[in-house]
Amino acid sequence: MPTARRVTVPDVVAAKGERRLAMLTAYDHPTARLLDEAGVDMLLVGDSVGTVVQGRSSTLPVTLDQMIYHGEMVARGAERALVVVDLPFLTYQVSPQQAVENGGRLLKETLCEAVKIEGGVSQAETIRAMDAAEIPVMGHVGLRPQAIRQTGRHKVQRQKAELLEDARAAAEAGAFAVVLELVQADIAAEITEAIPVPTIGIGSGPHCDGQVLVTPDMLGRTVGFAPKFLKRYAEMHEAELAAAREYVREVAAGAYPSAEHSH
Ligand code: KIV
Repeated sequence: MPTARRVTVPDVVAAKGERRLAMLTAYDHPTARLLDEAGVDMLLVGDSVGTVVQGRSSTLPVTLDQMIYHGEMVARGAERALVVVDLPFLTYQVSPQQAVENGGRLLKETLCEAVKIEGGVSQAETIRAMDAAEIPVMGHVGLRPQAIRQTGRHKVQRQKAELLEDARAAAEAGAFAVVLELVQADIAAEITEAIPVPTIGIGSGPHCDGQVLVTPDMLGRTVGFAPKFLKRYAEMHEAELAAAREYVREVAAGAYPSAEHSH
């Protein structure tokens, strides 16, 4: 059963094998309140803010200050959900010390509960250093959007031995959960069996311990993005466009404001 009180990092770890975890991204206060009210266990202030909010073609330009700005708004909106904030590109890859300093800033300045970084074996030392500094870390393996300049394009990840090694390395280093992005479903199932902390899948099939989606995508707010894994739970673009068009029409026609909406 989901807890009524605030979800903690130990709650997330204890959920493994007991119940599935629901996570969604949020970048602002009203969305955080809405998703919290809906009962999500975790809110991710993802660096996907770069693509779905800032309109960029990748997450690479997102800065630490921007993550602090969005993280603080989201953390204030969440009463129950655990809030996790992404460390953006080049704010942790330089050294474990850089990661501790920047991860610490995220915790201190946003009041979020945990940070997320991309990478398994390559970031194990960094995850260990943050864990030792009492900064809870969520790992992220499989497709890594911050590595797009090296990998060239987004595709399903099928290199089983490497994926298993990455997920194990993140968990052994102290990650309290590991995001599996675009991992072939049977490999995600094996990883979920193999590691002692929850796997949170996106595009990685039904066998993960939890799921995460990018909220504007699942609400149908993003246009022209339709990967196979994405289920649109609403068509907000259509609904909001129709509402905005109706407003424009009524203002032009002098129908808004009517007496009902005037003082
Ligand atoms: O930034 C993000 O939204 C993410 C999810 C895709 C997991 O990392």
